[in-house]
Amino acid sequence: MIKPDAVKDGHSGAIIKMIEEAGFRIVALKKTHLTAARAGEFYAVHAERPFYNDLCNYMSSGAIVPMILEKENAVADFRTLIGATNPANADEGTIRKLFAKSVEANAIHGSDSDENAGIEGNFFFAHTEQY
Ligand code: CMP
Repeated sequence: MIKPDAVKDGHSGAIIKMIEEAGFRIVALKKTHLTAARAGEFYAVHAERPFYNDLCNYMSSGAIVPMILEKENAVADFRTLIGATNPANADEGTIRKLFAKSVEANAIHGSDSDENAGIEGNFFFAHTEQY
């Protein structure tokens, strides 16, 4: 999911290009937005964290671009492509190093397991939109 800061700054196209060039197939993609409540549902696993409310407000502050991506070893390879959560720790050439502004406004989210990728994909897309 490309996050509000990166969408607002006009980086969606560059990020999608990097994703495709890294060998991911786009199964589903759209531009949409979250309410704070829906962002809270998406990030429910972080509900007890001190940054949760700010994260929900930030994630509902503008448009997002969720995607479902397919590749061998997709979860691990995508995490390599996007870089560390905090852009200060992200490797050169990663999406977060190039486009993230802070640990919160960090340009992009990637699922942390195959199981969560399925859950998060279904959060945004009907089965008929996944092709
Ligand atoms: P993401 O990979 O989408 O998963 C949870 C998000 O919470 C993370 O990216 C950041 O946007 C945000 N986040 C994680 N750690 C912090 C933190 N210490 N302070 C603020 N936001 C954070």
